[in-house]
Amino acid sequence: MGFDLASSIQAYLATGKVERLPNALFMDGESVAAESRQSMPTWDPGTGRIFSEFAAGQTEDVDRAVVSSQKALKGEWSRFTPSQRGKLLRNVAELIRKNSDRLSFTEALDSGKRLDEAMGDVAGAANCFDYYAGACDKYQGISIPLGPDYVAYTLNEPLGVTAHIIPWNYPLSTAARGIAPALAAGCTVVAKPAEQTPLTALMLAELCMEAGLPKGVFNVITGTGQAAGAALVKHPGIHHITFTGSVTTGIDVMREAASNITHVLLELGGKSPIVALADCDLELTADNVIAGIFENAGQICSAGSRLLVHDSIHDALIEKVLKKTKAIQLGHGLKNSGMGPVNSELQLKRVSGHVESAKSRGIEVLCGGRISNDPDTGLGWFYEPTLLDRVPLLDAAVQQEIFGPVLCIQTFADMEEAVHLANGTQFGLVAGVFTKDLSAAHRLAQQIDAGQVYVNEYFAGGIAVPFGGNKHSGFGREKGLEAVGSYCKTKSVVARI
Ligand code: NAI
Ligand code: MG
Repeated sequence: MGFDLASSIQAYLATGKVERLPNALFMDGESVAAESRQSMPTWDPGTGRIFSEFAAGQTEDVDRAVVSSQKALKGEWSRFTPSQRGKLLRNVAELIRKNSDRLSFTEALDSGKRLDEAMGDVAGAANCFDYYAGACDKYQGISIPLGPDYVAYTLNEPLGVTAHIIPWNYPLSTAARGIAPALAAGCTVVAKPAEQTPLTALMLAELCMEAGLPKGVFNVITGTGQAAGAALVKHPGIHHITFTGSVTTGIDVMREAASNITHVLLELGGKSPIVALADCDLELTADNVIAGIFENAGQICSAGSRLLVHDSIHDALIEKVLKKTKAIQLGHGLKNSGMGPVNSELQLKRVSGHVESAKSRGIEVLCGGRISNDPDTGLGWFYEPTLLDRVPLLDAAVQQEIFGPVLCIQTFADMEEAVHLANGTQFGLVAGVFTKDLSAAHRLAQQIDAGQVYVNEYFAGGIAVPFGGNKHSGFGREKGLEAVGSYCKTKSVVARI
């Protein structure tokens, strides 16, 4: 059945209803009801209203999914050649593209993000499957020279059953980023999407089946973190956990994983600095600062949530950033306004709480700093794009991840101070550097403690570039060929001949 984007948007905005959304768990190749038959609602953040229900999975459902995944690991999937796995992943990429309108519409509605951002995420998910399709038969082991009496080599074996705990800010693209390399490596998957955004992971599982993935290789358990997520991470039948989310939950996940010696990859928060040196192109830098903090309403682990600006250009750069910030129009994600809502009422309260407490400490608010709504309807969970100026390094607004449209501006006098500020939080996910002096840029890239550094284009790169955090931002790497390695265990074989 076809999906018409324009009429679906129109119908939804008029009625608040959507037809044919997935609402069951996905196991062993098919949609199945939760054993408890319980369901829970998902909200449209742009209106603050419930638009669908989905299955509330619990321990018994997780058990079934893990058993199905264990069985599939030993079944026909284990006999797929790497190039057959590649062909299959390529089919998934094509099906994602074919279903782009339906996926983007659902993602925008469930998460609150702008439709064009959702389209970008869906295109990124398809590229991710394409990239790992190509990697399947190219990720090689090595042979080790031990002299004429030995033959030694390594095998990259799949880690086994992998659990993927997915957050609500980039539901489909985070799922794809973990699941595609896991499948490329020959693993099986049990995914647990966030309870705020459960729908596109279920759609992805259906598309993977249509692409020819054997039953049980990719299962999805929807439900809360406390019930479904916790049961999954403590399950002794899983061999690896990829977790993306908060530091606090990451610590819990790691603790639970410890009791089964389960392999973990943690992609946690950030407080990433954008460093603007005195000679930077002000217009280019301002545009990147705006995209870095207001895309997805600032709910990005790698958001450029701190602007470190050289004293000499503070006023000139901030004038530009302020003008561009004030021009951002709020509105429902499906209307593609300048910025959509934040994902939940709870997240809105968190963001607002951070800013209110900064205000009470006397931090200067250049603009924003208020809860808002969709100007057309007066509904939804919106927060005004906010600039906080000259925030001291040790202030909570700088030290804590706000995860909303709030930028903290800090100033520095020289490179040493820039590095000190950049490295002055518990996080180490990404950093941006803006300058025409390439030596200074590469020196900063060496000195900043982060998993990735972008020079003169924030968020530069793509699926081919490894991504992950240092310090409390986590460990392990996703994306790039390294991600296939994240889902393999190396076996070395040494033979005396
Ligand atoms: P969270 O870390 O609690 O949730 C992320 C995922 O973990 C969801 O799928 C959730 O259901 C699951 N989960 C929760 N508790 C679990 C448990 N005990 N065992 C296994 N899975 C569990 O994040 P939350 O509460 O939604 O947001 C809190 C803060 O986390 C945000 O304000 C933001 O600072 C940060 N965050 C960071 C993200 C990132 O991209 N690094 C993504 C989402 C949130
Ligand atoms: Mg939702």
